Amino acid sequence: KFETPYVFVVFGASGDLAKKKIYPTLWWLFRDNLLPVNIKFVGYARSDLTVCKLRESFEKFCKVRETEKCAFDDFIKKCSYIQGQYDTSDGFQRLQSSIDDFQKESHDQAVNRLYYLALPPAVFNVVSTELKKNCMDRGDSWTRVIIEKPFGHDLKSSCELSTHLAQLFKEDQIYRIDHYLGKEMVQNLMVMRFGNRILAPSWNRDHIASVMISFKEDFGTGGRAGYFDTAGIIRDVMQNHLMQILTLVAMEKPASLNAEDIRDEKVKVLKACKVVELKDVVVGQYVANPDFDHPEASQGYKDDKSVPADSTTPTYALAVLHINNERWEGVPFFLRCGKALNEKKAEVRIQFKEVSGDIYPSGELKRSELVMRVQPNEAVYMKLMTKKPGMGFGVEETELDLTYNNRFKDVRLPDAYERLFLEVFMGSQINFVRTDELEYAWRILTPVLEELEKKKIQPVQYKFGSRGPTEGDDLMQKYGFIFTGTYKWVAPKL
Ligand code: BG6
Repeated sequence: KFETPYVFVVFGASGDLAKKKIYPTLWWLFRDNLLPVNIKFVGYARSDLTVCKLRESFEKFCKVRETEKCAFDDFIKKCSYIQGQYDTSDGFQRLQSSIDDFQKESHDQAVNRLYYLALPPAVFNVVSTELKKNCMDRGDSWTRVIIEKPFGHDLKSSCELSTHLAQLFKEDQIYRIDHYLGKEMVQNLMVMRFGNRILAPSWNRDHIASVMISFKEDFGTGGRAGYFDTAGIIRDVMQNHLMQILTLVAMEKPASLNAEDIRDEKVKVLKACKVVELKDVVVGQYVANPDFDHPEASQGYKDDKSVPADSTTPTYALAVLHINNERWEGVPFFLRCGKALNEKKAEVRIQFKEVSGDIYPSGELKRSELVMRVQPNEAVYMKLMTKKPGMGFGVEETELDLTYNNRFKDVRLPDAYERLFLEVFMGSQINFVRTDELEYAWRILTPVLEELEKKKIQPVQYKFGSRGPTEGDDLMQKYGFIFTGTYKWVAPKL
């Protein structure tokens, strides 16, 4: 039997995402023999390109090693390019006939189709409509559509987009990608919680004082300020990446590992989440800090020409979320994200309550924390108290440390996109965002986004390379987060 044919079509092939992420990911999967053998990669965009020019645009992001040069040429041989408009059928018909030719070459086996829509929102609707009209399978193979954020701008536009998609495709054909769900440590959250008896009994309001999900970047908006100004950090990172992590931290144990069981539980958490109020939000915007050692630091956010001088778009945000259910009532969830901060780090920090009936000298015992370091340096560590080693009787803070590149030295952790692409090939939707999930996530943040914009709330200015507005720390403290500053985890050296 001839190998089943697959086609992976990248709409928006000339764009940034295609060259930096999509093509390199396809190459790594191809190089590692993880893709079906009989596959073709088709780029589609309006620009006048050739495969050769396309190659030039993405090759430098593919990190091809000397020994892989031949394999890379083989990869390129599987690539083709179609120049076509987004709003007329002509290009889509040409795409369809190229898929038909591929079917003929493949002994008339029907071709499975993956369409990756890496497109600006303005053309999203027309492209999906044209796809449906011209390029669907004929019932003897499958069609799956991968889509990238922004999934709308607020609750209303997101629901409109979802309704549009639902008219064209079935839910099991739609793969909304949130690449944070492909990260090792995010995928580990469920295993940590549901695979360890030791954690399960304390994973609730009786033992946990607060949960912090934080995302920090040590660079600014770079060349993306034009896009960023229409979104802001809440839409860019919090509404999707951080909210997804929150659902995995807070959800109940699903009935099984089936995608629908998992997504049902995630939706329940989002439904129980109260709508965020303005009093529970701090927004910030970075300003230049020429003293900070970073090539971008001499430019504040508004110094970028593509940002309007009166922009109130936040580049930093902290929001306190409250989940109104039996497990979490009273436990604040801090979602914190920012650009141009002092470090690059994403982590989940569970801060436990104090021990009851403390018998040690006042102030010596510090709260235990379980930290899941998403990046860089994937690690899980538990900050806890031990006896100070040696003759004394005192106590000190230390950690139980599972640093990945120490414990799992020879394991290559795949890039988030690699995992997620494979999941689409396999038809697994566990790590993709379902329509109702998206709607409930928007419901939580849309009112505050509107209020911030309507009232033109001025973000607090913070310096490039700083920890962000101190108002953020104050708000967390108000909700009981304790930062003692007496302990710092240092990634072990190899
Ligand atoms: C993207 C955001 O979704 O995630 C970017 O649009 C952000 O602003 C990026 O920089 C962070 O992803 P990662 O994988 O580099 O942490």
